[in-house]
Amino acid sequence: MPLDRRHFLHTGAAAVVALIGNDLTQATPARNEVRAGPHDGLPGFRAVPATLHDGITVPDGYEAKVLYPWGTPTGIAGAMPEGPPGAGQSAADQAVQAGMHHDGMHFFPLDAAGTRGLLVMNHEYTDDRLLHGQENQGEPAERVRKTLHAMGVSVIEVRRTATGWTQVLPSRYARRIHGDTPIRIAGPAAGTAAMRTTANPSGDTVLGTFANCAMGVTPWGTYLTCEENFHGYFGGPTAAAAQATPAQRRYRTVPGAQWNSHWRHNERFDLTRHPNEPHRFGWVVEIDPFDPDSVPVKRTALGRKAQESATCTLTRDGRVAVYMGDDAAFEYVYKFVSTDRVKPGTDAAARAANRHLLDDGTLYVARYDAGGRGAWIALTHGRAGLDAAAGFEDAAAVLIHARLAADVVGATAMDRPEWIAVHPQNGEVYLALSNNNQRGAPGQPPADAANPRALNLYGGILRWREDGGDAASTGFAWDHFVLAGDTALPASGARYPHADADLFGSPDGLHFDSAGLLWIQTDMSGPTIGKPPFAALGNNQLLCANPATGQIKRFLVGPTGCEVTGCVLTPDRRALFVNIQHPGERRDDRTGLPSSTWPDGGPPGRTPPRSATVVVRRTDGGIVGT
Ligand code: FEO
Ligand code: CA
Ligand code: CA
Repeated sequence: MPLDRRHFLHTGAAAVVALIGNDLTQATPARNEVRAGPHDGLPGFRAVPATLHDGITVPDGYEAKVLYPWGTPTGIAGAMPEGPPGAGQSAADQAVQAGMHHDGMHFFPLDAAGTRGLLVMNHEYTDDRLLHGQENQGEPAERVRKTLHAMGVSVIEVRRTATGWTQVLPSRYARRIHGDTPIRIAGPAAGTAAMRTTANPSGDTVLGTFANCAMGVTPWGTYLTCEENFHGYFGGPTAAAAQATPAQRRYRTVPGAQWNSHWRHNERFDLTRHPNEPHRFGWVVEIDPFDPDSVPVKRTALGRKAQESATCTLTRDGRVAVYMGDDAAFEYVYKFVSTDRVKPGTDAAARAANRHLLDDGTLYVARYDAGGRGAWIALTHGRAGLDAAAGFEDAAAVLIHARLAADVVGATAMDRPEWIAVHPQNGEVYLALSNNNQRGAPGQPPADAANPRALNLYGGILRWREDGGDAASTGFAWDHFVLAGDTALPASGARYPHADADLFGSPDGLHFDSAGLLWIQTDMSGPTIGKPPFAALGNNQLLCANPATGQIKRFLVGPTGCEVTGCVLTPDRRALFVNIQHPGERRDDRTGLPSSTWPDGGPPGRTPPRSATVVVRRTDGGIVGT
């Protein structure tokens, strides 16, 4: 048994005892429930095989229904343009329709029975050949606008009917927040010099959120959307790259490195003219889904990075802790702990009372030591070398350039930290590490205890237990829950926690349901799917794990070329919502057409593949996963 595993198991018993006295958990579980989590018979469905089928595969006794594909009206009264998505729709249309590339998502119940609710979801990026047509129709500045409108967040209302879940149209909650929506900037970096631009000299308001990947939910019932790969939208002439600062290089906001030509058609994306504009992206953004008139807020106290998740839990004394991954190779894992305590409740009064909680606290970064111990290191200005001499003029500089601050304090560079999920019964924290094929390459960091594979193709899930079972602790015990890959290939280095576990690669999304089952969503990159050494793993998928037994069963396989993400179950666990992102993203080598026609079907090329929210339920109405 590896040393980290031994240490993790050894500290388990003490943490269980500590958690029993924690009256902040929603319902204090009995001692044996804390220890066991879900019982041995779970998950209880018959697993589906790995497949390359261009459709959704679910277990016998389950059905999957498409609910909210790209281009669907969001449900804003008087603004519900319909029609085939793509070149025929204007930027204004796209601003009130489902965006592209659905990602993180949460279900907020609207009634006690859980038969009505709000689905709030991210739209991460766009496929411009589908959005604007193969011929790139439209005036360039209008195309930029349409691209910005196709990202951000959707708030839709859904309800359960006799025939399953449907979208409510129109709904007074329906809302699109996108790349041009005015957003307030709050916290220590707001208003500071590095946040000021020509368009916003006060440095406290920004147009838009985009590149929205994973998410979080606060204890007071607001949604956190995370700005991940914002850097690709900022650019400039390649000749200007020589003047890029170390910070710009580290954040990849370097002229010439852009993914598109936004900088030519909308000057705020031109790094040479507005170098501070990218400082206003890469944040966690708080949204009140119950108030469609509320202004979203970028919370700078949580630090700037390629923000993956922002997973909230409570400390023992009732403050909020937020776990965050920075998804790039050799980046870090962070934790924010608020200064003030959470006022209980999720109603409007509680949301107002907790409005400032994410603006004041301590940001930490994780160090994973050999032997299964780890430490949270505070990124506090004036301490641990984070001072003006090291290039950090003030607290804002530490937050805006959190990556550079984390370098100074000796954090552990990880294999692409993605989603983080907290076990609802025992407080253990699970982190998806996607892959890192640069690990151990010439000039790159070698394998280490927490990232044990050089040329890590498959990723895995690392977990930790905070000392004393308290999310405010600065020490923890960690181990690997799973090193993903194909166990039939000796070189894969895979290690599963159960002999019969189903195989997968590149875990990205993680979600714990209320019973303590862990739902794992994968994002193997399109060109690798179905090919050696990934052939046995099939298309991207959703698996269900029992952390107590190590059993992992494949629950759903997505269509060709998609990523599976955003999984969330209703509180009663009778419905599972999940996002199918970028089906058919990889073009067919021969025809140049998208490799999927999901969900609309028909001959290749006639209908565009569409990212979509899907609802899965048992045909007998039973509890999903049992
Ligand atoms: Fe957008 Fe790291 O996945
Ligand atoms: Ca992700
Ligand atoms: Ca991803």
